[in-house]
Amino acid sequence: MKTLNTISQTKQFLLEAKKEGKSIGFVPTMGALHEGHLTLMRRAKKENDLLAVSVFVNPIQFNNPEDLKKYPRDLEKDKQLLKSVGCDVVFAPTVDEMYPEEKVTEHFDFGKLETVMEGAFRPGHFNGVAVVVKRLFNIITPDKAYFGEKDFQQLAIIKQLVKMENMPLEIVPCAIVRESDGLAMSSRNERLTPDERALAPFIHQTLQQAVRLKTEKSPLEIVQWVTDKFKEQPAFTLEYFELADAVFLQPVKRWEKAKGTIGFVAAFLGDVRLIDNIRFY
Ligand code: PAF
Repeated sequence: MKTLNTISQTKQFLLEAKKEGKSIGFVPTMGALHEGHLTLMRRAKKENDLLAVSVFVNPIQFNNPEDLKKYPRDLEKDKQLLKSVGCDVVFAPTVDEMYPEEKVTEHFDFGKLETVMEGAFRPGHFNGVAVVVKRLFNIITPDKAYFGEKDFQQLAIIKQLVKMENMPLEIVPCAIVRESDGLAMSSRNERLTPDERALAPFIHQTLQQAVRLKTEKSPLEIVQWVTDKFKEQPAFTLEYFELADAVFLQPVKRWEKAKGTIGFVAAFLGDVRLIDNIRFY
């Protein structure tokens, strides 16, 4: 496994691979790898000749400086895990390598996709994601890039980015990977105290219970029901629970069966912000 820190070395390495006719599967990450990431990587390795992974904590997608400071980082541990899934090349640039300019001015317009949920609560977040993902795609030139559905809105934004920029690659969505107690895997879970970790499965359990009520309640009633459930659990501060269609991510008042309906949640447990989602239709 090769670890490269510069854009030019990485481009060179991947150009050689392309000349040999190899296909490139890419998994972009911010490190602190867990089984969720490794699942994407195993799939990418199986479906392509070469697996490329980036490890870069992207400062411009953090709207909260404290969150950026506390984001877990351990490249040596990540490299061991990357070796275990047969990663061929790790791109681990510095912030200066990715952002040589003084201020990033590139701006994308994702319309309504970015005005709801994560976009509303984390101003600038998706622009930061889009800037880094576009740069990473240009460096890695993957045939396929793999993203987890836990960040469902991010996935929608990236699909839109690829469309707007006419990028010649396939975005492969991958199902949420959960711990045995249902908690969606996330690098942020590392920051939960043991007590908080024990409470965390409440999120998925509540979403599952809500899905069971979908035939007897309207979307509005379900939103109220989930909101009330969270109020009964003082350890959590619910930021939002929304039912939205699965394509444009706009709130639904009636069950949207054609496009699909998904329930999205973001909640603080202590000072850790967790997100999750579940399909209703
Ligand atoms: O999902 C993530 O880990 C990040 O948002 C990504 C896609 C690696 C961009 O920094």
